[in-house]
Amino acid sequence: MKTVLITGATSGIGEACARQCLAQGDRVVAICRNLDKARDKFGAEIEAGRFVPLHYDLSCNDQLYKLCMDELKPYSIDRFIHCAGITLMQKVTSTSHDVMLKMFETHVFSLTEIVRALLRLRKSEQELSMLALSSMSSPGLTCIGGAYSMAKASIDYYVRLINKQLNATSRKYLPLTPEQLAAVDALEDEAQKEFVRTKAQAQSGLMVRINSLAPNLIDTPMINYDFLQSQGLNVHLIPMDVVVQEVFNLLENKYVSGKTMVLDIGAID
Ligand SMILES: NC(=O)c1ccc[n+]([C@@H]2O[C@H](COP(=O)([O-])OP(=O)(O)OC[C@H]3O[C@@H](n4cnc5c(N)ncnc54)[C@H](OP(=O)(O)O)[C@@H]3O)[C@@H](O)[C@H]2O)c1
Repeated sequence: MKTVLITGATSGIGEACARQCLAQGDRVVAICRNLDKARDKFGAEIEAGRFVPLHYDLSCNDQLYKLCMDELKPYSIDRFIHCAGITLMQKVTSTSHDVMLKMFETHVFSLTEIVRALLRLRKSEQELSMLALSSMSSPGLTCIGGAYSMAKASIDYYVRLINKQLNATSRKYLPLTPEQLAAVDALEDEAQKEFVRTKAQAQSGLMVRINSLAPNLIDTPMINYDFLQSQGLNVHLIPMDVVVQEVFNLLENKYVSGKTMVLDIGAID
C-alpha cells in the first residue's frame, strides 16, 4: 500500500485521482481548504482512515512548510499529486498584483513548499514520485490564459530545475529487487557478480522523480465551456479517465523525471 498526498482532492482531476488511489488500495492524505466538502465526498473513507484530510488554504503558504513537517511525518508519503488550482481568463495587462500573487500562491508556491518538506521528510531508501498539473496553455502561449499560464509555465520550469538539482549529477537509483539480488548472489565469480550488480543498478530507475502533466481541457467545475467557445477557441475535451491514467503512468515511470508531458490532442505545433 502506498500513501499518496493529493492537493485539490475534493474536485475534478484531484478527486478522480484520489478515487483511483482508493480503488488501488492506497491511502490518500489530502490537503483541502474545505473539510465539510471532504467529509461529504469521502466520509466513509475518512472513517476507515484511508482518506486523511488536512485543512489548509493554499492561496497563502507562509505556514505550509511547517504544516507539512508536523502533519505529514507519521504518514511516510510515497507519491504526491498536486492538483489544486484556480483559473482566470484575463490578459496580464488587466491583472492586479493581488490576483497575480493568489495565482502563484495556489499553483506554484504551494508546490515548492510541499516538495521542500517531502524531500526533507523522505527516508534515505524511500522512493518518492511527484507530479504537478500544468496546462497546455503553458507551452501553447494563449493570451487569454494570462497569469494562469505564467503560473503553469513556472511549474514546468521548477520541475526541470529541481530534477536537475536531484538527479543530474548525483543520481540516486532504486535498490535492486530481491530477484535481482538473488541472481547476483547465484554467481560464483566475484568480478562477474560486481559487473551484473552494477548493470542491474544502472537499470533500476530513479529513486526521486518529479514531472508535470500539461493537458488540454477536461470537463471539470473549473472549465467554462460556453465562455471558451464564445472566445472562438477550438475546444477539445480530454476524457477524465485518460487524464487519470496519464497521471499514474507518469508517476510510476521510474525512468522519467524533470519532464512536462503534453496531452494536447495535437493542438500545439
Ligand atoms: N480542467 C481542465 O481543463 C484543466 C486543464 C489543464 C490543467 N488543469 C489543472 O488541473 C488541476 C485540477 O483542475 P480541475 O479541472 O480538476 O479543477 P477543479 O475541479 O476546480 O479542482 C480544483 C481543486 O483545487 C482546489 N483548490 C483551489 N484553490 C485552493 C486553495 N486556495 N487551497 C486549497 N485547495 C484549493 C479546489 O478546492 P475545492 O474543492 O475546495 O474547491 C479543488 O479541489 C488544476 O491545477 C488545473 O489548473 C485543468
